[in-house]
Amino acid sequence: MEWGHDMKFNVLVVDDEKNIREGLGKALQMDGYDVILAGDGVDAYSKMEDEEVDLVIADLKMPRMSGEELLKRLVDSYPTVPVIILTGHGTIETAVQAMRAGAFDFLTKPVNLDRLGLLVKRALSTRELVLQHRQMQQELDKRRDFSNILGNSVEMRRILDTVRQVAPTRASVLITGESGVGKELIADAIHNLSGRKDRPFIKVHCAALSESLLESELFGHEKGAFTGAVSRKRGRFELSNTGSIFLDEIGEIEQSVQIKILRVLQDKRFERVGGEETMEVDTRVISATNRDLKQEIQNGNFREDLYYRLNVVNIHVPPLRDRKEDIPLMAAAFVREFAEENGKPVEGIDPRARAALYSHPWPGNVRELRNCLESAVVMSKGQILTVDDLPPGIGQSDRNSTIHVEIGSTLAQAEREVIRGTLHSQNGNKSRTAEILGIGRKTLHRKIKEYNLED
Ligand SMILES: Nc1ncnc2c1ncn2[C@@H]1O[C@H](COP(=O)(O)OP(=O)(O)OP(=O)(O)O)[C@@H](O)[C@H]1O
Ligand SMILES: [Mg+2]
Repeated sequence: MEWGHDMKFNVLVVDDEKNIREGLGKALQMDGYDVILAGDGVDAYSKMEDEEVDLVIADLKMPRMSGEELLKRLVDSYPTVPVIILTGHGTIETAVQAMRAGAFDFLTKPVNLDRLGLLVKRALSTRELVLQHRQMQQELDKRRDFSNILGNSVEMRRILDTVRQVAPTRASVLITGESGVGKELIADAIHNLSGRKDRPFIKVHCAALSESLLESELFGHEKGAFTGAVSRKRGRFELSNTGSIFLDEIGEIEQSVQIKILRVLQDKRFERVGGEETMEVDTRVISATNRDLKQEIQNGNFREDLYYRLNVVNIHVPPLRDRKEDIPLMAAAFVREFAEENGKPVEGIDPRARAALYSHPWPGNVRELRNCLESAVVMSKGQILTVDDLPPGIGQSDRNSTIHVEIGSTLAQAEREVIRGTLHSQNGNKSRTAEILGIGRKTLHRKIKEYNLED
């Protein structure tokens, strides 16, 4: 899945004057759009139901249903379709009202075709983001059935293949990778795709417990086994009988506990702490670590025999920066999730924000990407996420060192942007700005005036 590709757009032109309607229609067709014509609001509204319309250009004064009424209905029923309003001379007041009612923009008649062209392009660029986002959502829905694991990269596909293949077996799986890459999610998928999915799935966070606590947590204890053992307690291995156990952060376990885990893996047997009776257990062991266990073996911190028992199948999850192809789909999924959760009408991500998400190195991996988009959605003010919505540190350096000029801008508009951006980056210092731009200070002053850039 990629961000961005060509689309063909349908533009609906609504005007009761045949000449204007057809004239605009021709102009738009020449620009490569598919055009639908309607003679009034009622006609327009019914055409909206028949066809996937991407943009509406509507006159205000029309018989049967006025442009105002049509606009109101469109904003209600098709909130992601932009509407450009056409107004006669001297009716700026109504145009402003239309903008308040949700029009994308307005054009005064007689229509200047160059301005129309630019406006249409601008309106459709937002619409395009919405459509791309929607396409991404459909792609997401198709994947729901497998698991919550997202990814298109070769690496993720290979991992998902392994998950499917290994899940139904009893083989021990060791999942390795940096913090936040999705190790636990993969462990969940393995259990849920196995024949044990309706049996217990017990998770143990090995790093959180001291050596002695971990031992009694894993294997249980008899009443009076140690001070505080007021009653008999069943351990996690016992609880996971007939199901699976997830030993998270296995690299943090002390040697004394390692040897007991080895015995469970080899003989399926263990004793409770302070107990005589040998218990038998049938459990599937999935473990995870962000350490390099081979190195830990060399350093004498981890038992080699245990390593081989745990690592019958290894799933290594690469950091997100090494599989950037996964970012667009994940970003779309997280945006949807957090938009729903927070009741925000976010429908897309603009190109600069996408670029920022794509190029960030994500040291905290998927967890960091998730948190970033949660915050962005919560902070967002519109339908489309922008770089300004992203948390500090993501895309900001980008913002200060690049100048954004949209295709469709005139040379003069581009020049204005370059001057404005450079001035801004130099905190308004005109001599440095002139120097960077390679023009004299007089010229700069003149252009600042000409482009109305005096702040
Ligand atoms: N491929 C993925 N698709 C969707 N969500 C993912 C994916 N990978 C990770 N996540 C999400 O990112 C977050 C971190 O994932 P997870 O807790 O599984 O990472 P981890 O590797 O176990 O991290 P740690 O080593 O810090 O425990 C979770 O919210 C998880 O749902
Ligand atoms: Mg984890």
